[in-house]
Amino acid sequence: MSQSESFIYDEVPYPSFVFPQTHPDRLATLGRLMGIPTASPESCRVLELGCGDGTNLCSHAYSLPNSSFVGIDLSTVEIDSAKRSASELGLSNIEFHQADVTDLDLDELGRFDIIVAHGLFSWVPDFVREAMLNIYEQCLAPNGIGYISYNALPGCRIRQISSEIMQYHSRNETDALKKVSLGIEGLRAVAAASAADSVYQAMLSLELDQIADRTPENVFHDDHSTVNQPFYFHEFCSMIAGHGLKFLCEAEPSDMLDKGLSDEATKILDNFSSDPFERSQYRDLITGRRFRSSLICKASNSPAPSPLLNEVDRSYLSTQLTSEEDSRFDDDSTVQFDSASGNNLKLNHPLTKFVLIELEHRRPETPSFSGLIDAARQALATEHTNEEHIERLRSFLMQMFLAGFIKLHSFDLASHREISDRPIASRFARWQLERGSTTITTINGANLEIEIPAVAKLITLLDGSNDRSEIVRMIKEEFAPDQSEAEVERIVNENLNSILNARLLVG
Ligand SMILES: C[S@@+](CC[C@H](N)C(=O)[O-])C[C@H]1O[C@@H](n2cnc3c(N)ncnc32)[C@H](O)[C@@H]1O
Repeated sequence: MSQSESFIYDEVPYPSFVFPQTHPDRLATLGRLMGIPTASPESCRVLELGCGDGTNLCSHAYSLPNSSFVGIDLSTVEIDSAKRSASELGLSNIEFHQADVTDLDLDELGRFDIIVAHGLFSWVPDFVREAMLNIYEQCLAPNGIGYISYNALPGCRIRQISSEIMQYHSRNETDALKKVSLGIEGLRAVAAASAADSVYQAMLSLELDQIADRTPENVFHDDHSTVNQPFYFHEFCSMIAGHGLKFLCEAEPSDMLDKGLSDEATKILDNFSSDPFERSQYRDLITGRRFRSSLICKASNSPAPSPLLNEVDRSYLSTQLTSEEDSRFDDDSTVQFDSASGNNLKLNHPLTKFVLIELEHRRPETPSFSGLIDAARQALATEHTNEEHIERLRSFLMQMFLAGFIKLHSFDLASHREISDRPIASRFARWQLERGSTTITTINGANLEIEIPAVAKLITLLDGSNDRSEIVRMIKEEFAPDQSEAEVERIVNENLNSILNARLLVG
């Protein structure tokens, strides 16, 4: 990459986000489930290439104080901002370096248990991509997990058309953000003028919908970039194979299910190939996939073709599912479990019902599988906890993990388990709110949208210096002067419970 390209990121910094799919616990757990003896996320070494302003890496470093983190980015503006953030957050387990990935001393950099590159691979020229893969080849520990996200084909062919229309229409504009608005204007006009109800018009309208959800800075770097190289999955696999690396699985567990495919489509897919890699490629062709977040490992590893059920035994569990009060787990009656997103799950297997209800009641704890089995043996008749039922439980839990109903972890997440007199919320989440973000990150790396200003204020007040009565007084004064103290206290307590359950309290 030329230096002038780096100035583009200096001029228009990329919007910063936390990417839960890059959290070391997620990557180590997926690696472990696929049969790789990954390092514990509690004490690992993590490298992020093209880390931007470091928000993602700082979030991980805050939640894993005994692990160490290194962020590399070519942009001086981004790295200066990353260093400022680390210092504001008081993080001593993170370092940021302004450097080109083509120009790193890999011996000096050392070995890493996890290497992440989000939003870099497709947006750099071939020689930079080669340098990135060299880093994975030489710096990934033997049982390390690599994460690389990239634009995928065939879906990105369509995106290429809309990008080219926007680039052409804004070709004479030099200001980055004006370029974006002019480009979108051009794309909208072209879509409106193209043949009514044609496939082409539908395609452009779909692209316009996608763009509407993104920030102008994001559209600028992603759609006006001189380099935006999508890949077929099989091309990606060949490229990494040339560097002694192989594909493990996608960072999104649900990708291992044929989610969204009809039974008929699954049958067609099954007929194409039984080889998991070819099957995955055919699935992309069927779904018109446009983005991948792939996990890779050293070719010397022999990962399992699908997640290992016995690894559930070494996992810690959490869920946001809720059940109706007094739901029965000691018989085979059906219990409905609801997710926050409106999906539900109906179960009648006593041991599985017990485990889900126990997880719900013990939130924000993340109990171990063995601890849950011990608790089940106390609460259920022996016939419900024999080896046959434990095997069924493993299988249900794996299915629920892949479908996104529960999370499996590699350690007990250290969020606080009760509301203290002077509660302390995650410093990282308070820092996000202080910077004007409405998205905050929990201790276990999940993102939450905080849309109500009074809730945002409540979280910022949880710095350990205010007791509950002071908190109630300040919230009442600013947001509810006309409500009774008792009513405000009730609402504050309710919200404190939600904050605790969301794993946002550290003291
Ligand atoms: C699209 S942004 C992605 C930032 C962040 N990872 C994210 O996804 O939000 C790409 C980042 O890679 C950096 N970058 C581009 N080329 C690079 C290179 N050759 N060496 C190091 N960093 C590079 C840019 O400065 C920019 O911060």
